[in-house]
Amino acid sequence: MTDKYAVIGNPVEHSKSPEIHAAFARQTRQDISYERVLAPIDTEDGFSKTVDRLIAQGYKGANVTVPFKYSAFLKTSKRDTPRAEFARAINTLSFCNGEISGDNTDGVGLVTDISKNLGFDIKGKKVLLVGAGGAAFGVLGPLREQSPMQLIISNRTFAKAEEAAKILAPLAKLRADDTEVLAKCFEELNGCSFDLVINATSSSLNDELPAIPDSVFAPGALAYDMMYGRETPFMKFARTHGAQVADGLGMLVEQAAEAFFIWRGVRPDTAPVIAQLRSA
Ligand code: ATR
Repeated sequence: MTDKYAVIGNPVEHSKSPEIHAAFARQTRQDISYERVLAPIDTEDGFSKTVDRLIAQGYKGANVTVPFKYSAFLKTSKRDTPRAEFARAINTLSFCNGEISGDNTDGVGLVTDISKNLGFDIKGKKVLLVGAGGAAFGVLGPLREQSPMQLIISNRTFAKAEEAAKILAPLAKLRADDTEVLAKCFEELNGCSFDLVINATSSSLNDELPAIPDSVFAPGALAYDMMYGRETPFMKFARTHGAQVADGLGMLVEQAAEAFFIWRGVRPDTAPVIAQLRSA
């Protein structure tokens, strides 16, 4: 029997997840269906009721996208990993024996894209994460686990960067390495340079550029925008200042691959799927 999955969001019609999971399923010969499900945002329990309906209809799991990742966190009775607990956001739900468990695969998707697909080893490097909203929280834990030399969190609203650094700092003690985790405001970045600069803000959605100085790009730095679909102002800015540039398409496919692995226990080959989406 075909196992049913879905992506829940609002809006959701733009989601590439059905295409990605269909490609994974063909490749690994898994008998699944995967569709888009629009959940209402005008009622408080719209997301929760949507999940309940999917469970009643026999779905095995669902991905969750904007704006429901925190609602999904609240809906789960069990979080599969510390990364999901830290992110306080869930993008992968599994429904099994009446229990709803959840994980966040965004961070591992980002790290896999950077390390495996782009060949950039984060260990020992100076890393700047720009942004301290939901998207940033989703990736901070897994980024930290790569043991960069420095992980600086910078945000337009400084208090949010400080909060993120405060929550993340105790992980350093647990891991017994000496990653320096610090919050800085944009002005404090003047004169600082980094090997890897990640844009985790939503500025690109409005064709805006976070007000970071151009000094942040060390020679040969990698500049990564978690958005995809077009060259963003951040990517243009980084390219102009000598950085190598990547968008978030690889992250999108890698986070989906991790979700597919959680559900099906098989790891799809992501390279042909990334290539297929790039050429489309
Ligand atoms: P998401 O889930 O996409 O992270 P969010 O939680 O609303 O959305 O967070 C948006 C992030 O983008 C925040 O870090 C926000 O900065 P503020 O905390 O100061 O609002 C950041 N952001 C959005 N537009 C920005 C811009 N034009 N310049 C700099 N930062 C921006």
